[in-house]
Amino acid sequence: MNIGFEFIKYSLNAKGRHGIHSPFVYNLVDNVLRKPINEEVIDRQFRLFKALKNDATIINFEEFGAGSKRLKKQRSVKQIFAANSTKNNYGNLLFRLMHSYKPMHVLEFGTSIGCGTLQLHWGNPEAKIITIEACKETFEFAKKTIEQHQVNNNIKLINSTFNRYLEEKIIEKFDFVFIDGHHDGKSLIDYIKKLEKHTHNDTIFILDDIRWSNDMFNAWKTLVNDEQYHLSLDFFRMGILIRQINKQKEHFTLKK
Ligand SMILES: C[S@@+](CC[C@H](N)C(=O)[O-])C[C@H]1O[C@@H](n2cnc3c(N)ncnc32)[C@H](O)[C@@H]1O
Repeated sequence: MNIGFEFIKYSLNAKGRHGIHSPFVYNLVDNVLRKPINEEVIDRQFRLFKALKNDATIINFEEFGAGSKRLKKQRSVKQIFAANSTKNNYGNLLFRLMHSYKPMHVLEFGTSIGCGTLQLHWGNPEAKIITIEACKETFEFAKKTIEQHQVNNNIKLINSTFNRYLEEKIIEKFDFVFIDGHHDGKSLIDYIKKLEKHTHNDTIFILDDIRWSNDMFNAWKTLVNDEQYHLSLDFFRMGILIRQINKQKEHFTLKK
């Protein structure tokens, strides 16, 4: 995948609120994505990012997905933070979605060192978040980080592969699912299909790294064309899918 060329194509297509007729998407662009982030949260983000970007702890990484394009098996927390963690614009996107829609049951696939988890949590501290990480040392580090930066005990970390978790008895109907790990197109589609019975018509699915490879991008395009999903939103690195089966099928390319 030529990511530079893809970015030019995306930028030429990406819309602001003009020309959007869907009330849900208009509100998303006009309100949700523009909401200022309050000082307290900016301060929390600052403290978390400062701690992670200077942390030289070495993690012996056990690979369960497609593998990193940049990092070796032994990697430091600061390298993981720089290469794999959700922060800045996309971290704020997670925060704003949580803050505006207030989903109560949230699932994250791929905790890593806990950066994305905490953005989700700060967006709506009342939400019960379940986050899954297979690599034991990464999981242990995330646990410590989350304990230090969470505002209550609503985050449950599980050390498991995504597939093993999906085989367990899941009682939740998730309102919000963030898939950020594995990076294999066939697996991505498979996880989404397996999650259908644990989600509902208005569940917001956030898929990360949709342009990570041709294979991931083809999987994204397959999901966009899937009759099950009536709303799809392309934010370049992330894509959003919602079933909304009673609505007209629509796709938008949006500015972050
Ligand atoms: C890109 S990182 C996640 C970043 C994190 N969500 C954030 O927002 O900062 C992906 C993580 O998913 C984990 N992972 C990949 N494939 C997995 C699988 N099949 N089961 C469980 N964890 C997996 C990796 O170990 C890695 O830590």
